[in-house]
Amino acid sequence: MNWKPALEGMTPYKPGRSIEEVTRLYGLKEVVKLASNENPYGCSPSVKEFIATDAIQHEIYPDGYASLLRSKVAAKHDVSEDALLFGNGSDEIIMLIARALLGKGTNTIMATTTFPQYAHNAKIEGAEIKQVQLKDGQHDLEGFARAIDDETSVVWVCNPNNPTGNLIPSDQLLAFIEQVPENILVVLDEAYFEYITADTHVDSVTWLGKFPNIIILRTFSKAYGLASSRVGYAIGQPEVIAHLNKVRSPFNNNSTGLAVAERALADQAFIDQCRQVNHEQRARFTQYAADNNLHVFDSQTNFVLLEVPVDADQAAEKLLQQGFIIRSGNALGTPGYVRVTIGTEQQNSDFFAAFDTLLVVEGSMK
Ligand SMILES: Cc1ncc(COP(=O)(O)O)c(C=O)c1O
Repeated sequence: MNWKPALEGMTPYKPGRSIEEVTRLYGLKEVVKLASNENPYGCSPSVKEFIATDAIQHEIYPDGYASLLRSKVAAKHDVSEDALLFGNGSDEIIMLIARALLGKGTNTIMATTTFPQYAHNAKIEGAEIKQVQLKDGQHDLEGFARAIDDETSVVWVCNPNNPTGNLIPSDQLLAFIEQVPENILVVLDEAYFEYITADTHVDSVTWLGKFPNIIILRTFSKAYGLASSRVGYAIGQPEVIAHLNKVRSPFNNNSTGLAVAERALADQAFIDQCRQVNHEQRARFTQYAADNNLHVFDSQTNFVLLEVPVDADQAAEKLLQQGFIIRSGNALGTPGYVRVTIGTEQQNSDFFAAFDTLLVVEGSMK
């Protein structure tokens, strides 16, 4: 078969290990997954109540326009309904952007290290990938500006960044967007928006009127606790959204996903609570790192990138044996670190106890 040459040497996305797999493999009673930045508190109780009613008509195709959810999200952000695009997770929207705008003869700019799906999809489309090294875990926006040329089609800004968790100060991001030519789409991937507690942060949705070439990605997978339902959305100028809609498959969100996202959105008190507890627990990680003389990146998310005193794969394996699934930095492009989702108070206490076993290197503490 004549596969696209870009697929040569590519590998499918490899997720971290599942709870079931680790439980079976290591014969453990309890396994805690702190690997994919899901919400350890689950989702709003109203979602669970709704699911128990089984009110979905499974034999009917989903609403391909996501009408009900669309009107609620539009009201929440004070944007028009045609400024929204819903995807099967924001993963799908990333794919749609690449599909609509990238190809041979174009290039696309992103940080390294950042969320890998930008490069993955750009590669499939045959675009040139320009990666700009992070500076202290932060996007180097001056480097981004220098990388832009006539062939640049899409710029990806992961804010806060995965895997470092760093948030770009709003004034710096705004100054960068002002420099980007209007024919280049700037994607602001804000998957962890709901976890931000920095009081200087400006909601980028307020910039949409001024910059027709930005698109903002949000998701129900993280703070809303609905990763399994696969609902993400984009907010952009109606003209941008209309183009992306052309490459979207007709029923890309299922009925259950749309319905639970609507319930989850309505319960902002749950989100506020999760943001607050996550903030408190994040401080414990900062303290733990300081107490043990380990570097941790300054995170505004529900995960931290934490230095390990041994090889990151070894650290991940040792933590796995103690019932904690985390991500080794070796796989994420950040050797010497592990990415850990911030769990509940108890999970974090147990995690620190497990991590303590890594600190004893040949009888001495790091
Ligand atoms: C920065 C970032 N963007 C997008 C996604 C994809 O999220 P989803 O497809 O579940 O909405 C993730 C998931 O980990 C992420 O970390």
